[in-house]
Amino acid sequence: MKHLIDIQELSTVELAEMIATAEDIIANPQKYADACRGKKLATLFFEPSTRTRLSFEAAMYELGGNVLSVSSANSSSAAKGESIADTAKTVSCYADIIAMRHPKEGAPLVASMNASIPVINAGDGGHNHPTQTLADLLTIWREKRRFDNLTIGLCGDLKFGRTVHSLISAMSRYSGIKFVLISPEELKLPSYVREEFIESKGIEYKQTTDLIEVMPELDILYMTRVQRERFSSEDEYQRLKDSYILTPDKLETAKSDLSILHPLPRVNEISVAIDSDPRACYFKQVLNGKYMRMALILKLLSMKDCESDASYEGERVVDTIKCQNPRCITSVEQELPHVFKLTDKEQGVYRCIYCESKAK
Ligand code: NCD
Repeated sequence: MKHLIDIQELSTVELAEMIATAEDIIANPQKYADACRGKKLATLFFEPSTRTRLSFEAAMYELGGNVLSVSSANSSSAAKGESIADTAKTVSCYADIIAMRHPKEGAPLVASMNASIPVINAGDGGHNHPTQTLADLLTIWREKRRFDNLTIGLCGDLKFGRTVHSLISAMSRYSGIKFVLISPEELKLPSYVREEFIESKGIEYKQTTDLIEVMPELDILYMTRVQRERFSSEDEYQRLKDSYILTPDKLETAKSDLSILHPLPRVNEISVAIDSDPRACYFKQVLNGKYMRMALILKLLSMKDCESDASYEGERVVDTIKCQNPRCITSVEQELPHVFKLTDKEQGVYRCIYCESKAK
C-alpha cells in the first residue's frame, strides 16, 4: 500500500501497528521531531475543513516536515477547470505526500492513480473518510483498550456521513461487534455499506429511529451532523437537521462507561452541557486525529513503491455502463473512464470503482 483511499487498505495488523506508533508519539514526541525533516506534505482541500486540514499540517510540522496548502477550490487551478489527474501530476513535482479532500466521491482515488507520491483521502463527498476513522480507532482504543465485544451506536446522518461508512468498514473486522444504526428513515445507511460490511459478515445489527430506546445497550455512541451540503433540497435538510439532540437527560439510562464520540463539527447534535460529562470523548478524538495522522504520514513515507498493493484488481467493465451518481467524480470529469468492478459474483453486482454506486 502506498496510498490511503479506503480504510480497508489497512490490515488489522497495520492498524494495530499505527496505534502503537501513535501511543509512542504521545509518550516520546521528541523521538519523532525530525522524522520527516526535508519532506513536504501538500494539503489539497477543495471542501471546508478545520480539524482534518489543520491536524494534517500540525502532524507534519511535529514530524519536522513542511506543508504546502490549498485550502479552497477557488484558490487553485481547479477553479479554472483543471482535472484531478493534472493537479495530482503537478503537485507530485513539488511535494512528497498529498492529503486531498474533495466534494466529489472518488476524487482522491483518481489523484492516487495519477500521482507519483502517496495520496491520502481526507474525505470524498459522502463516501469515505479513512483518516477520521484512524482518529476514531485510537479514541476507542484509549477509552476501552479493546476493539472486540463492543456495541456501537451510530446516530444521525448515516446516509451522507462519510465518517460512519469508514468506521463501520473498519470495525466490522473485529469479533463480537454489534452495530445499532439510529437515523431517520430518509438518512439510513447506504445499502452497499450494510451489505458489504455488516450483512455479508454476519454481524449483528439493528436499525431504529429511536435513540432513547437503545441507549442502555451502547458501549460507544457515535453522533454525527446532518450533512447539509449533500442535500438536494434545503427544505428536506431543515426538516431533518434536528432529528437527534443529545442532552444530559437522554443519558440517564446510558452505561456509566459509555464513550460518546463525534467527528465534529457539531451543529446542534450534542448539547454543550454534555462536554463536562466524563463520557464525552470528542475533543480527545480531535487530538488523537493528529497523532494517527503522524503515524500515517510516517508509514506512507517509509514505504517503497514495490510495497504498493493492487487493491483495485479483479473483474472490471470499462465504459460500457455509466455511473448515475451525481456526487461521483465521473459526473464532472468527462474524460475519466467509467469503470465498474464485480463485487458480488453470485448476484452479479457491479459497483463504480470511484464511488461504489451499483451499476444500474
Ligand atoms: C467530518 C467530515 O468532514 O466528514 N468532519 C471531520 O473531518 N472531522 C464530519 C462532518 O463534517 O460532519
